[in-house]
Amino acid sequence: MSFVVRPADPADAEQLTRLAEAVSAEPEGWLISTGGEWRSVGEERRYLKALRRYPHAAVYVAERDDGALIGRLSIARDQHPASLHVADLGLMVAKDARRQGVGRALLDAAGEWARGVGVRKLELHVFPWNEAAIALYEAFGFEREGYRKAHYHRGGEDVDAILMAYRVA
Ligand SMILES: CC(C)(COP(=O)(O)OP(=O)(O)OC[C@H]1O[C@@H](n2cnc3c(N)ncnc32)[C@H](O)[C@@H]1OP(=O)(O)O)[C@@H](O)C(=O)NCCC(=O)NCCS
Repeated sequence: MSFVVRPADPADAEQLTRLAEAVSAEPEGWLISTGGEWRSVGEERRYLKALRRYPHAAVYVAERDDGALIGRLSIARDQHPASLHVADLGLMVAKDARRQGVGRALLDAAGEWARGVGVRKLELHVFPWNEAAIALYEAFGFEREGYRKAHYHRGGEDVDAILMAYRVA
């Protein structure tokens, strides 16, 4: 499989929404969600459009050579003046495209973005049962920084999350 990683375009909204819906629907529950639906195509399009004028956040996609979008990474820097050097990220890869280097390539793009805007630390939360994601992050160089007990509400209960971070070299 060959693919490229590039900044998301508003025209990607439809495909990205379908990707997020598919990954959110996986029974293991990988993603930290806002509790209900993923954002609509229109909301995703507006968000991607707004990013063009907003330097503090970015979305990258992995596009397969047949045009399918098989991965999405979003990153946004902290707004507090004392932690402007920190950015939080989230990512997902389509089920049939996993274990082929897409996640790692998206993290590389996040690192490049961070260097470009002066972000020195990337952080993320991952559910303790998400062994694939934890393996990816550790292989990339993320370290466990903390364990957040009952930190996220999902499926009617409050669940734990691991806080991981990466120093941008
Ligand atoms: C986690 C996820 C993003 C990984 O993406 P991916 O494209 O499959 O990852 P890569 O192919 O780039 O993997 C890079 C390395 O990470 C590790 N890794 C990734 N998936 C793994 C798995 N299932 N088991 C063990 N190690 C794994 C390996 O070290 C791998 O290198 P290798 O294949 O050369 O051994 C993907 O599984 C996914 O989208 N899952 C559902 C959504 C999700 O969990 N998002 C993250 C929420 S915090």
